[in-house]
Amino acid sequence: MTSRLRVDNYLDADYFDRALRSDVLAGLQLSPKKLPPKWFYDDRGSELFEQITRLDEYYPTEAERSILRTYASDIARASGADTLVELGSGAADKTRVLLDGLSQTGQLERFVPFDVSEGILRSSSRDLLEEYPELTICGVVGDFEHHLGKIPTEGKKLTALLGGTVGNFDPDLRRRFLHEIVAGMTPGDSFLLGTDLVKDIDRLELAYNDPSGITAEFNKNVLHVLNDRVAANFDPDQFEHYAKFDTDNEWIDIRLRSLTDQDVRVAELDLDIHFAEGEFLHTEISAKFRKEKVAAEVAEVGLELTEWWTDERGDYALSLSVLK
Ligand code: SAH
Ligand code: AVI
Repeated sequence: MTSRLRVDNYLDADYFDRALRSDVLAGLQLSPKKLPPKWFYDDRGSELFEQITRLDEYYPTEAERSILRTYASDIARASGADTLVELGSGAADKTRVLLDGLSQTGQLERFVPFDVSEGILRSSSRDLLEEYPELTICGVVGDFEHHLGKIPTEGKKLTALLGGTVGNFDPDLRRRFLHEIVAGMTPGDSFLLGTDLVKDIDRLELAYNDPSGITAEFNKNVLHVLNDRVAANFDPDQFEHYAKFDTDNEWIDIRLRSLTDQDVRVAELDLDIHFAEGEFLHTEISAKFRKEKVAAEVAEVGLELTEWWTDERGDYALSLSVLK
């Protein structure tokens, strides 16, 4: 089985430490303080995200799964792909629906999961190899911002970015990210994009403020990561989760709010940071989309939007685009 699995890891301890240190050093000295969301995802963070996907309040996962179930064979046929590249594959759970579509049309050869979290990439790959005996997996452990160019080039590709992950980039980074995704595609290759849609504010905010507090734990996990990886001494109980819809930008604005006036030391960076009571640390945005915006953003990077599918409630969209 191992010959069917290759994992290239570009995030060795050295890279990881350098990138995290530079983000922490820059982000905690900004005003307002800010950290990029990729640091949520150590093994605990990936597991917490999995728990979020099972919450009743967090509708995007099931909405996306229902669209995939309905259109997987159309996606397989329209893309003509033998290789599925999945960016931010995580547990690769919904991926099975796509793999089934490609397998049923006899096209499936290769799966290329790409994720910053090595643990979840390896465990999901091992499970998929057992379930899909014809599949070869070439995993890439890397950072969207630096390693998209390391994705293997073989095969006719369907590149998928699911779960609404594209919404976690601010607009400038998103443009750059989409541009780099396309740089790795060949004319005729397809791009499958999952986007959460603008909707009723109460439902949006509830999805990010679940009463069971899992999303709050996920948000605070970044503090645990900093404690573990750069010897910070954050007390997560001294921060509270904040998630509100920003109607101007049409994104959920996710932050941690300091409950007290407090000092935090980041020993490995010899950095002392003060938080005033009520001060925010910005941890993530989750942008919500409309069809015109998605069509315009993919067009800007040379893709042509060919299909737009939504779930029954119109909560979430999957779009298929082709590189001209
Ligand atoms: N696609 C899955 C998981 C979405 S969670 C789903 O739809 O449920 C977002 C995933 O992107 C996580 O697995 C996380 O580890 C990964 N991720 C976040 N930032 C990343 C980055 N900068 N580079 C690579 N992967 C990243
Ligand atoms: C991974 N990403 C699409 C999730 C989202 O909905 O933006 C991350 C998340 N953050 C809080 N809840 C879920």
